Amino acid sequence: MTSPNSTQGLSREPFPTNDAPFPGPKGDQGVPYVPGLVLEGVVAEGGMGLVYAAREISTGRRVALKTLRACFAHDEGAHARFEREISFTRRVVHPNVAPVLGHGRMSDGRPYYLMELYRGRTLGAVVREDGPLSIGRALEITDRILAGLEAVHAAGIVHRDLTPENVLLTEEPSGETRVLLLDFGFAHEPGVDTGDGVTADSRGALVGTIRFMSPEQVTRGRAITAQSDLFATALLLYYAVSGKLPFRGEGDLDVAVATVRKAPVPLRAELRNVPRALDVLLSRALAKHPDARFSGAAEMRRALSGLRRPRAKAAGAAAALAG
Ligand SMILES: Nc1ncnc2c1ncn2[C@@H]1O[C@H](COP(=O)(O)OP(=O)(O)O)[C@@H](O)[C@H]1O
Ligand SMILES: [Mg+2]
Repeated sequence: MTSPNSTQGLSREPFPTNDAPFPGPKGDQGVPYVPGLVLEGVVAEGGMGLVYAAREISTGRRVALKTLRACFAHDEGAHARFEREISFTRRVVHPNVAPVLGHGRMSDGRPYYLMELYRGRTLGAVVREDGPLSIGRALEITDRILAGLEAVHAAGIVHRDLTPENVLLTEEPSGETRVLLLDFGFAHEPGVDTGDGVTADSRGALVGTIRFMSPEQVTRGRAITAQSDLFATALLLYYAVSGKLPFRGEGDLDVAVATVRKAPVPLRAELRNVPRALDVLLSRALAKHPDARFSGAAEMRRALSGLRRPRAKAAGAAAALAG
């Protein structure tokens, strides 16, 4: 028998192991609670965010609860940004974006939202643990990322933080892999200045994850738009098939300089059997100037599908020969 604490997360806090709701807050030391939910364990803890595995008492359904870390319980700026994350996530309804099932405030005032608790691993974990993916599989995953991005961009939102840790791969009951874009914590609406110091329009703030930033995110020389997400998607594809990135350096600063100044290391220099057309596609998506990239996620997806089709045909032909 498995204990409720052993399922998904690494429990680092004293969670109750029965179905009883959390006890009420005990002053500052009390464990925060959400009526109707049992927090079962911590799935992940980042710089600002905290994701719990939880269970709804009325339905028994297991959910993921994302909130801010306790040190941000009284930080109004962090609350406002998190509320924006919730509203951006709710605006995008698409099978490749994890939907918000509910939201509210914990007993200590921290905002939270609920998602399905997915069983799976992030793209980062898969590449780290199993090694790089085949080109065919990476192209399929990238197609799903772009499908999700089409919906994100159609909602007027730029994700701005497409990293391997923000792409979750989860297995459907059918056995198919579902790709989910997570974490709209750094998302923004181009042209809308919310004045909190982390918008595209403000000077000096570096928003995103340096190794997965576009040149305009690094230099803040241009607006951060849908094309910035396409640049990051090309980085994800490159990473998925090679475990490396096309802009190299010792530390983040060197990588940032390479992102702005250097040509990408071609994938063909890393791997054998890379179709030339894939490097052509990557170099277009990784163009320094956003206007030289694809016009949108849909166009990049079409270009990718041109690469996927011959592979699928070849696989079909091989299967027919084998059969
Ligand atoms: N709904 C979910 N189901 C399962 N795991 C999740 C879910 N949402 C997030 N995670 C895990 O938690 C991690 C952190 O979530 P994320 O939203 O990216 O928070 P942060 O803002 O702290 O980066 C993800 O990388 C993923 O491993
Ligand atoms: Mg994240």
